Amino acid sequence: MWDFPLFPEQASTVAGRVDSLYFFLVTITIVFSLLIAFAIAFFAIKYRRGNNVDRSNPLSESKTMEAVWIGVPLVIVMIIFFWGTNVYFTIVRAPKQAEDVYATGKQWMWKFQHIGGQREINELHVPVGKPIRVIMTSEDVIHSLYFPSFRVKQDVLPGRYTQLWFEPNKPGTYHIFCAEYCGLQHSGMIGRVVVMDPVSYQRWLSTGKGGGGSTTGDAGTGSGESMASAGEKIFQQQGCASCHMADDATRAPQLKGLFGTQVALKNGETITADEQYIRESILRSGAKIVEGYEPVMPVYQGRISEEDLMQLLVYVKSLAAPAKNQSGGTQSATVPGTATGEQARGTAQHADVPAANAKSGSK
Ligand code: CUA
Repeated sequence: MWDFPLFPEQASTVAGRVDSLYFFLVTITIVFSLLIAFAIAFFAIKYRRGNNVDRSNPLSESKTMEAVWIGVPLVIVMIIFFWGTNVYFTIVRAPKQAEDVYATGKQWMWKFQHIGGQREINELHVPVGKPIRVIMTSEDVIHSLYFPSFRVKQDVLPGRYTQLWFEPNKPGTYHIFCAEYCGLQHSGMIGRVVVMDPVSYQRWLSTGKGGGGSTTGDAGTGSGESMASAGEKIFQQQGCASCHMADDATRAPQLKGLFGTQVALKNGETITADEQYIRESILRSGAKIVEGYEPVMPVYQGRISEEDLMQLLVYVKSLAAPAKNQSGGTQSATVPGTATGEQARGTAQHADVPAANAKSGSK
């Protein structure tokens, strides 16, 4: 048997759709290339010198022919347009219920962290049949996170967050590539994604071992506490709480319920409190001043690592949902009490993972 696949395996929900569109384009290209090539050959032979053919070339006009050569290409390109748009929007819009994974690219490795706190390097474990959203940034230059078998790829840029999502539909181990030239060892910036059945995945989350061919995976790398609770610690250490969690909101905007809402700025603009906004407001607090406040917050650019920033981000996100028990929440809101829907799932998952919880006590 030949083991020389022309295409990577189709291992996500969009892979088949991307390939169909691709093969359609290839087919159209081949058909028209052949038509033109044959026409050239046919006429070259028919009208070759010395051949006895009619060369009078009278002026003629055919409305039907004009309609055909306008109509047929129009239909073809409109098919490509609507089909391509449809696939594109599927790829760029992550489903609401997607599970978040955070990724950082640096020369030359991929670092991943799950909401539950599990860290991985050049390896990513995900469950089959569940949409995964990867939120990522770079510590140095532009990289590009590429999952060939899922048919998704997204540039990873320093100084901002980008994201991609996929839903693996076939357990197995697949390639992770960096798809943007990023220096000497760009070609070595590779890894693997391990798609596991949900039970093995839960086991992996709790122990770092769950089959699926994983030998090096260690879910326990790092603190063993969830990103939100690690973020809360940083929040306390950096003194953020004294202003942002104060009882009166005169000094700084309150963060509870903030994420995902519209924020009125001093300059009259309104902005959505998304990942990018949270990031910018921490690093360069003066960039977007909320209406009614003065730019008094210190600048954290260069004082906080990308990974710590991600923990903070997840913590701020976890404050967002109007959880039932949040109304009476104390200042130093503990994570379980303030979890969002998204977080709540992460926490709930975590709850039936005793090992991971036990570990968090060690730090
Ligand atoms: Cu990172 Cu190429």
